[in-house]
Amino acid sequence: MGIEEVRRDWTRLGERDPLWAVCVAPGKRSGGWDEAEFLATGRAEVDAAVAWLDSLGLGRHWDRVLDFGCGAGRLTQALARHAGEVTGVDISPGMLAAAQRLNAPPNCRFVLNDAPDLRQFADGSVDLVYTALVLQHLPRPLVATYLGEFLRVLRPSGVAVVHVPTQPRWTVRGVLWRFVPWVVLRVAQRVVLRYPAPMRMTRVRAGWLRRTVAADGGQVVADNPDRVSTDDWLCTRYVIRRG
Ligand SMILES: C[S@@+](CC[C@H](N)C(=O)[O-])C[C@H]1O[C@@H](n2cnc3c(N)ncnc32)[C@H](O)[C@@H]1O
Repeated sequence: MGIEEVRRDWTRLGERDPLWAVCVAPGKRSGGWDEAEFLATGRAEVDAAVAWLDSLGLGRHWDRVLDFGCGAGRLTQALARHAGEVTGVDISPGMLAAAQRLNAPPNCRFVLNDAPDLRQFADGSVDLVYTALVLQHLPRPLVATYLGEFLRVLRPSGVAVVHVPTQPRWTVRGVLWRFVPWVVLRVAQRVVLRYPAPMRMTRVRAGWLRRTVAADGGQVVADNPDRVSTDDWLCTRYVIRRG
């Protein structure tokens, strides 16, 4: 799986059912999300993350923020309350159209980024990179590339908050993710669950993430388990910065 496949799948998901594809939950398919409720989940997540960064002495307001894989702008809008300006980037035009529809505040802008890097952002130009529920859908080599890119675009004092799944839980679906090969799961997602396109999950182990960040000249400065994002995966939120 390369960037072309990621682009194809998320273009289709963004066109067909953007809010459900961002937050997969029972009863939310086919436009089932209430928009206010959807955006409130983003505020809850970002407020908790900002409180955590503040407790670490890493700030609670940033000039330039990059929301990587912004989807429908759920987190972009929430980040805007803590930022001078937020740029949401996404690979899916349909997601970006949904983000525009949801009346984001004026300090948000949304841009298409369908490259396997962040070349449209200059070195050292961002104070906070935020990404959640995104890297998990990418093949591991692309996760490594983007981690390096987050470090490159950060100002020396900047930080990146990176959310990844570390292992499946022992739920029924977690067991399937653990033991059933992806080629089988992707067919099941399409044929049995009728997903508009498959949604891959990539496990990112702590040791691998720390080694990859270090190889790019960065360091992990904090980590925190995330217990709310998915029922079937254990996830961790990391803070990384330039070395
Ligand atoms: C599950 S959604 C999460 C959206 C948002 N982060 C949130 O939590 O509300 C994943 C998003 O990542 C985007 N995405 C996937 N691969 C990407 C890539 N290589 N570059 C930019 N966006 C990407 C998808 O199009 C989709 O909008």
